[in-house]
Amino acid sequence: MDHVMNTYSRQGVSIARGKGCLVWDETGRQYLDMVSGIAVCNLGHAHSAVVQALKDQAEKLFHCSNLYGIPQQETLGRMIGENSFPSRVFFCNSGAEANEAAIKLARRFCNARGKRGSFIITCDGSFHGRTLATMAATGQTKFRKGYDPIPAGFLTVPYGDIPALKAAVTDEVGAVMLEPIQGEGGVNIPPQGYLKQVRELCDDLGLLLVLDEVQTGMARTGKMFAYLHEGITPDIMTLAKALGNGFPVGAAVARPEVAEAFTPGSHASTFGGNPLAMACAIATVSTMVKDDIPGQAARRGAYLKESLEGLKGTHPALREVRGRGLMVGADFESDISFFPQAGIEHGILLNVIQGRILRLVPPLVISTQEIDQAVETIHTILREKGL
Ligand SMILES: Cc1ncc(COP(=O)(O)O)c(C=O)c1O
Repeated sequence: MDHVMNTYSRQGVSIARGKGCLVWDETGRQYLDMVSGIAVCNLGHAHSAVVQALKDQAEKLFHCSNLYGIPQQETLGRMIGENSFPSRVFFCNSGAEANEAAIKLARRFCNARGKRGSFIITCDGSFHGRTLATMAATGQTKFRKGYDPIPAGFLTVPYGDIPALKAAVTDEVGAVMLEPIQGEGGVNIPPQGYLKQVRELCDDLGLLLVLDEVQTGMARTGKMFAYLHEGITPDIMTLAKALGNGFPVGAAVARPEVAEAFTPGSHASTFGGNPLAMACAIATVSTMVKDDIPGQAARRGAYLKESLEGLKGTHPALREVRGRGLMVGADFESDISFFPQAGIEHGILLNVIQGRILRLVPPLVISTQEIDQAVETIHTILREKGL
């Protein structure tokens, strides 16, 4: 591409259309989609309820400034609260923007309280986005290369390590921000009880707990939000990716007392909470609740994990299969960066992270037959590569 900046390593196909778990390229070739736009199209491509909601809204009004009322924001805010915790929501357009809002809200809350500083502790291996602040929050140095000066205000500690977290807390620290399961960092699941201990630590020390559910949210892990597995409640939660099933929309969700730190003029977004985005997100959340998509993700995820476990005997390079719901990582002991291209040759979209982990995040409506097909194809590719 000559007219687009060179920021992505792209596979040599262009996807022209999709339905459910299938997509087709420009030549009409079909692929099974095990990526879903990186955990975005959780209801599958072109879901009828979302398409209809988008069409209906498009006929009425594309956009309206936040200078005026947008009633759909109230509807979606209520629905998010009903499925998570009593809260108020700031709507935006992406995961990075949702995390920016969370960081700004946490800082304003801490500054207003005056008791603690507003530094935020994040974790090694985390991924929070590509804006300057979310890049600074991200605990992977590779994403920061060449971008000095990096914004200040973040400290990073090992993920899953309570003593390290405790040791990092000073009077300067006002919040802890982490992913319930690290996505980009390698589908890393923290030790049992870690999130509960982080919550207790935050309560004891008066710190805010910010959970980045951009990838784990919206039924991906077998519950509507991943923190629901842990018996805790965050102070702030961020969402994006699957919230609009592919329509760009993000949200920072906060307990009402924390949300109060934002006042008119303190934060804003031209497109945030736009009627088209709200219509898609409302249709997405209602469908997820109505069709018990979290339950489906839990069942199909267990089946996918079990099927992948079955490959271990034949392919010793496959070290570990881990994940929750349909957020699954297959961890190999050697480089497997051949998978995306090999997948395309075999009619399947596959994603690799950290060079050796196959991240499987298909639409949550995937059937057991489609899972069988995916696992069989992975087996074939591994055999071809001699692994
Ligand atoms: C956990 C997490 N947070 C934030 C982001 C950034 O989201 P976006 O690319 O929509 O800015 C991502 C994207 O992969 C993510 O996985």
